[in-house]
Amino acid sequence: MLALERWLLIMSLYCLTGKEALTHFPSLGPSTSSAQGKVHVKQCDLLKLSRKQKRLCRREPGLAETLRDAIRLGVMECQYQFRSERWNCSLEGRTSLLKRGFKETAFLYAVSSAALTHSLARACSAGRMERCTCDDSPDLENRKAWQWGVCGDNLKYSTKFLKKFLGQKRIGKDLRAKVDIHNTNVGIKAVKNGLKTTCKCHGVSGSCAVRTCWKQLSPFHEIGQLLKLRYDDAVKVFSTTNDAVGHSELAGPQRHSHSPKHPASPRSTDLVYVEDSPSFCRPSKYSLGTAGRTCSREGNCDSMCCGRGYNTQSRLVTFSCHCQVQWCCYVECQQCMQEEVVYSCKQ
Ligand SMILES: *[C@@H]1O[C@H](CO)[C@@H](O)[C@H](O)[C@H]1NC(C)=O
Repeated sequence: MLALERWLLIMSLYCLTGKEALTHFPSLGPSTSSAQGKVHVKQCDLLKLSRKQKRLCRREPGLAETLRDAIRLGVMECQYQFRSERWNCSLEGRTSLLKRGFKETAFLYAVSSAALTHSLARACSAGRMERCTCDDSPDLENRKAWQWGVCGDNLKYSTKFLKKFLGQKRIGKDLRAKVDIHNTNVGIKAVKNGLKTTCKCHGVSGSCAVRTCWKQLSPFHEIGQLLKLRYDDAVKVFSTTNDAVGHSELAGPQRHSHSPKHPASPRSTDLVYVEDSPSFCRPSKYSLGTAGRTCSREGNCDSMCCGRGYNTQSRLVTFSCHCQVQWCCYVECQQCMQEEVVYSCKQ
């Protein structure tokens, strides 16, 4: 099994056992005793990693916990971005989905690698990993930042590590493998492009005589949103042989009309797929179908319910109302009830 595929399977396996990923892990204490070392090794063994990944994991205290964070981050973001789509990124059917080459598969690869990159970079700057620290780019700005104890997110380290962890270099030559690598790189790149330089002024009464800057990742939600947009515009590709270079490469529909003979290669920011997706309307090996899903009447009920119609149900919800600030110093509220209408797809 490819290292990358294995990682994605781990992501799905662990989340099947409970709502929260990997909750059965003992938490890491703050101590740096040898006991912690043992806990760490145990955590690595619990993750069903390949032999090489396990070796990397054991060598890197703090990594197992970071992997767990990454799994949670990726899954939560995927479910959030797809909350009102027919495929809601549920874990049911994930294994079957990963074997295919749908747009949804592309998103899963991208969001997982993005989550892993993001979590690793954050873990570095937070000092949770022994072998990496703050953004270690050698520029002066950064060294100044160090003086002030400000720490940048270490993306360089995390990208390098990720490539090693997923073993990209050795993955084969077939179309699916190329597509998976491409989509993984789209995820990494999305994180990279979200890197911003943040500066802070120091000096007498905000004179900004000294300015320190550091690199900061954008919130993962922004990356999730970007990848969702990429999913909406995903490009269908096929394999073509480049005679000039003598090996096969990915090709999609051309974007400009002036070179009709040559199919265009997808951009490094495009999510790519090879197969059209199923409708996800009915239960299948890829999803549970949309029966029972809630939808919004003005919005997506027609498409979500695939024309089967929807049930209307009203329920009472309580909320705080007529709040007043009392002297001194608390807020007193009444409980109000309101009727709320819920729409859900028919069987
Ligand atoms: C996804 O939809 C299914 C029904 O098709 C539902 O059982 C499941 O709870 C939903 N998952 C999420 C994460 O919303």
